[in-house]
Amino acid sequence: MVLRSIDWKDGKILIIDQTCLPNQLVYKELNTLEAVAEAIVNMRVRGAPLIGITAALGMALVAYKAKNKSREEILRILKEAYNILLNTRPTAVNLRWALKRVLETAENSKEDVSKAVINLAVEMMNADIEINRKMAAVGQNIINNGDVILTHCNTGSLATVSVGTALGVIIEAFNRGKKIMVYATETRPLLQGARLTMFELIHEGVDSTLITDNAVAHAIKEKGITKVLVGADRILSDGTTFNKIGTLQLAILANHFKIPFYVVAPTSTIDMESSREDVIIEERDPNEIRKIGDTYISPKDAKVYNPAFDETPPELITGIITEKGIITPPYKYNIKKIM
Ligand code: MRU
Repeated sequence: MVLRSIDWKDGKILIIDQTCLPNQLVYKELNTLEAVAEAIVNMRVRGAPLIGITAALGMALVAYKAKNKSREEILRILKEAYNILLNTRPTAVNLRWALKRVLETAENSKEDVSKAVINLAVEMMNADIEINRKMAAVGQNIINNGDVILTHCNTGSLATVSVGTALGVIIEAFNRGKKIMVYATETRPLLQGARLTMFELIHEGVDSTLITDNAVAHAIKEKGITKVLVGADRILSDGTTFNKIGTLQLAILANHFKIPFYVVAPTSTIDMESSREDVIIEERDPNEIRKIGDTYISPKDAKVYNPAFDETPPELITGIITEKGIITPPYKYNIKKIM
């Protein structure tokens, strides 16, 4: 059964609490705006598309609770919620994309604002699955029988409503009978690769092997890796890609070893408005690096640099797989065309 990360049921949001994986599959109800913001900040839900959909459903939750208030009051409450949710995590553009869509719909709806917001958020949630299915169908074409694929972070059902981006492509190729092997990086410090990607790959029955982040170059050389597939949190109009910290080194290595490096992302991850200077790379709590679980693995006062994302230049990217097709260089021209 394909995992589903989030759902909307009778005015409540139901999520898989990803902080409990892989040891426990815990479902959690989010009943307040504060709980939705906390879930995004503390990464109970994470992954660019899922962050966007969670925020949209957060707006639906607020609208649902305010449904008997005046139109003006609902719009005021929604704008407040928009600002709170927009500030939860800075890098994934899907958050801004989703919140903007919902607020614009609320402002333009002449009659029942609550209903319009709830309908749109639920529609966006369902559309995410369809978009990922299309992306998987498009993307599996680049995967050959016998491929040994390296992936990073978690880009599967758990990073989206369901199906996933890069991992969605990999699993689709496997389900179509292609004989593949997958190497997953553990993805320090929050271990999305070890905890979530390995959980999903084992759940789907794919031949998969976990490696440390430090083992990447050696594994490419020794294990016959033929392709690298990653997701994205934001892609600029020239193809510059922001994704989980460690992506840049994978792209540089793929280039060095002359193997293709693909980014898989829905068009909602493409940001045609921002330039490099506008993008904030999230820096997270130093204790994520100083500690594993409750135990310090460095001196308590060790100085730490903990960026959550990095920037991969377009010249290192072989292709960007979207639900609308595969974008190849020159990105400046071809991204504009597809958008
Ligand atoms: O910090 P996270 O776990 O939210 O980061 C997730 C990633 O970087 C993914 O690779 C990215 O969101 C694309 S996958 C859908």
